[in-house]
Amino acid sequence: MDTRIQSVKSKAVQEFNQSESLEELQQLRVKYLGKKGEVTQLLRTMGQIPAEERPKVGQMVNQLKNELAVIYEEKYAELESKIQQSRLAAEAIDITLPGRKPKAGSLHPLTLVLNEIKQIFISMGYQVVEGPEIETDYYNFEALNIPKDHPARDMQDTFYISGDYLLRSQTSPVQIRVMEKQEPPVRIIAPGKVYRSDADVTHSPMFHQVEGLLIDEGITFADLKGTLQVFARAMFGPDTKTRFRPSYFPFTEPSAEVDVSCIMCRGEGCRVCSDTGWLEILGSGMVDPRVLEHVGYDPDKYTGFAFGMGIERIAMLKYGINDIRLFFNNDQRFLDQFK
Ligand code: DAH
Repeated sequence: MDTRIQSVKSKAVQEFNQSESLEELQQLRVKYLGKKGEVTQLLRTMGQIPAEERPKVGQMVNQLKNELAVIYEEKYAELESKIQQSRLAAEAIDITLPGRKPKAGSLHPLTLVLNEIKQIFISMGYQVVEGPEIETDYYNFEALNIPKDHPARDMQDTFYISGDYLLRSQTSPVQIRVMEKQEPPVRIIAPGKVYRSDADVTHSPMFHQVEGLLIDEGITFADLKGTLQVFARAMFGPDTKTRFRPSYFPFTEPSAEVDVSCIMCRGEGCRVCSDTGWLEILGSGMVDPRVLEHVGYDPDKYTGFAFGMGIERIAMLKYGINDIRLFFNNDQRFLDQFK
């Protein structure tokens, strides 16, 4: 009996120790310690041995049972931890790897320039307003003193939609819309998209303008000059000089185009200013009395000035950009330079 116990023991210990999976271990437990297992079987054969040996043999079998149970527990824990280790290894994340940085966007150069323009005029008490991009012939032309058959219509190559509708060719119609709705004083700027059938390195069929309008009692050309001078210095630097050249716009009288001293050569003459020392930045003038009459303002009581500038042009001058199409190509190499 003793040798049978010993042989079951050594076989069991060896098999338990060699088992490589939890399933295998489970099967071994059934095989040795289960109800019909080999150790239980040993107890069943107790009847065949002499009575005086039974307590000793019983003790030995029980001891074997306990030993195997301990080996089982230990082996179980060992296998479980092995499984966990290998799972951890498989799922390991190398936290020392540098992460992928998300590319941060940035404001478009036209937005940057428009924000600057807004800030300058807001600080002088102007309100920012907007108007529709699809306009009627009346607001875009008629009310601005540009009658149907007038040659002034040729100044802008307009996209007509149908009937009376067109894509606004300028932000000037917003002047009319604002004045129709409110009594003087008026002090607004109106930024937005405008459209003209025109395309080359300095012209785009869609571009942006900022319109300005100030109406009150006693406004003179000196107010216009002073306001635009303040703007030019804030935009292009405190040393910037301004020059007002007589010009023509149907809705202003007198009209002027405004130049600033070249921001590249500071007025000495270079390629950017075609050796003139000056750069044209906007159109302006005193609002024509006929425009005031159109909106029901009394031109004997109120006077005012207006101006309009192209945002692309200002941005091109400010940043030294030589092709207007760069603004609309969405080339990240271009856009990243304005971060
Ligand atoms: N609307 C004109 C254009 O697009 C620009 C302009 C000139 C606007 C003179 C004005 C102005 O308000 O007074 O060419």
